[in-house]
Amino acid sequence: MEQALIKTDFPDIGTPKRGKVRDLYDMGDKLLIVATDRISAFDVVLPTGIKDKGKVLTKLSLFWFREMESIIGNHLIETDVEKYPESLKKYGDILKDRSMLVKKARVIPVECVVRGYISGSAWKEYKKSESVCGIKLPKGLLESSKLNEPIFTPTTKAEEGHDMNLTFEELVKTIGNDLAEKLKDLSIRIYTKACEIAEKKGIIVADTKFEFGMVDGEVIIVDEVLTPDSSRFWSIKDYKPGTSQESYDKQIVRDYLNGLDWDKTYPGPELPPHVAEKTRNRYIEILEILTGYGL
Ligand SMILES: Nc1ncnc2c1ncn2[C@@H]1O[C@H](COP(=O)(O)OP(=O)(O)OP(=O)(O)O)[C@@H](O)[C@H]1O
Ligand SMILES: [Mg+2]
Repeated sequence: MEQALIKTDFPDIGTPKRGKVRDLYDMGDKLLIVATDRISAFDVVLPTGIKDKGKVLTKLSLFWFREMESIIGNHLIETDVEKYPESLKKYGDILKDRSMLVKKARVIPVECVVRGYISGSAWKEYKKSESVCGIKLPKGLLESSKLNEPIFTPTTKAEEGHDMNLTFEELVKTIGNDLAEKLKDLSIRIYTKACEIAEKKGIIVADTKFEFGMVDGEVIIVDEVLTPDSSRFWSIKDYKPGTSQESYDKQIVRDYLNGLDWDKTYPGPELPPHVAEKTRNRYIEILEILTGYGL
């Protein structure tokens, strides 16, 4: 069986900038983004890949970019390998279904998080302060409760380690009032539309994270959109507030890791084959549910 793609190496194209999941190649005025099968948990990239995960992320992002075109432009230029520059065609087998040629953007250095439900780090903060990112929330919320309306809870974009929550005022100090208002408005509109689409397919988008960038003075959406790596997807039929929910994301991996004696610093442990396989199936399942097509 084909192996998971842990990293790419295209020496004649250049040295990639490697994120946790993606390898980025500078193509002059464009970027080549390759989604590998790497998986991170607790901000540590694990040595084991999840076969085809990069394809799932790429297909889902493409689906959502199209769905959101009426709200915002995106960075996509081309995703059909046949239409890539000649220099890339020899890597076609690797690039197919997991890469995009995109506009090089000046990435706005914040993560635009939107939450419709209270979960994860927001739940922890709420328990301490009844607020999240400086937004006061009603008393008596349970873990995974639906919020009255979606909230915008931006964070810093840490080069290494964990992102930090920002209040709206702190965001304004970082990027200015007009841009802060604009990103908040866009993020909530995109999230709201995504919830409508996902709900019809039996899925709750509990929260998600967007990145925006500037190209020719215009704000566009970049990176990945509404994938299991950037979002918490829950099944409507299993939804039950008052506890944490089973997500279509790395929950299987996190649960496995939490059962180990590992301090969540590098190097991360290998995943056993059954954990990798189960995780792979979850990624493929959410792709099929949301888009109606498979790998
Ligand atoms: N159109 C674009 N122009 C420039 N940079 C982009 C564009 N789209 C995505 N990026 C950047 O590419 C990287 C994607 O890689 P990946 O998601 O693997 O990184 P990451 O580990 O999440 O890193 P980071 O903490 O920098 O987001 C991100 O740093 C993202 O900001
Ligand atoms: Mg990322």
